[in-house]
Amino acid sequence: MIIGVLNQKGGVGKTTLSVNIAASLARTGKRVLLIDADPQGSALDWAAAREGDPLFAVVGLPKPSIHKELSLVGEGYDHIVIDGPPRVTDLARSAIMASDVVLVPVQPSPYDIWAADEVVKLIQEASVFKENLKSVFVINRKIANTAIGRDVREALEAYDLPTLEASVVQRVVFAEAAAVGKAVYEQDRDGVASQEIEAVVSELQECFA
Ligand SMILES: Nc1ncnc2c1ncn2[C@@H]1O[C@H](COP(=O)(O)OP(=O)(O)O)[C@@H](O)[C@H]1O
Ligand SMILES: [Mg+2]
Repeated sequence: MIIGVLNQKGGVGKTTLSVNIAASLARTGKRVLLIDADPQGSALDWAAAREGDPLFAVVGLPKPSIHKELSLVGEGYDHIVIDGPPRVTDLARSAIMASDVVLVPVQPSPYDIWAADEVVKLIQEASVFKENLKSVFVINRKIANTAIGRDVREALEAYDLPTLEASVVQRVVFAEAAAVGKAVYEQDRDGVASQEIEAVVSELQECFA
């Protein structure tokens, strides 16, 4: 499965979810490639911060030709995760064209809900060329037991995309793990953050594999 994690808005959790989804897929023994399509190279930074063996391969490909190069670059991998760029539309468009499923992280904030408009438009444009393209929102950095955490799901219904049942709560372990190039399951062995990531991955596989 090729999962593109995209949203032109920065700071929504694209890189955080990309590395942890890739780690979760790799944990089952599959060969996983993470493509860093962000010119800022955050996923590459994450990999560089790591001591010891890598969990999966990470390559930087911040080029608008990802969709053309993917069959060569991704040869031999069971799953590919693309960590999308903020802003740069031609890169985002290429990453969408390369994906089987586009996963759009949104935070429970009205600004995020409005800003999702941009990526939804890109997905709709790409769907014209790629009929079987799938896309779905995932709520990230949810703050437990708040009204906005519940309302975001309803607000996202204004868009044509479905929202995953599984969501990811705001937890400091995501930043702590990132600082040392680890997945959350390594940092807090099978803690709640890791269980949430597992639920996201299971739902993606059940719905889109
Ligand atoms: N679920 C979460 N809980 C806590 N912090 C998070 C969570 N998701 C992302 N973050 C933090 O938010 C910031 C932005 O996340 P990042 O993954 O870099 O977003 P993007 O790649 O979309 O710009 C980072 O500091 C990251 O550690
Ligand atoms: Mg990023």
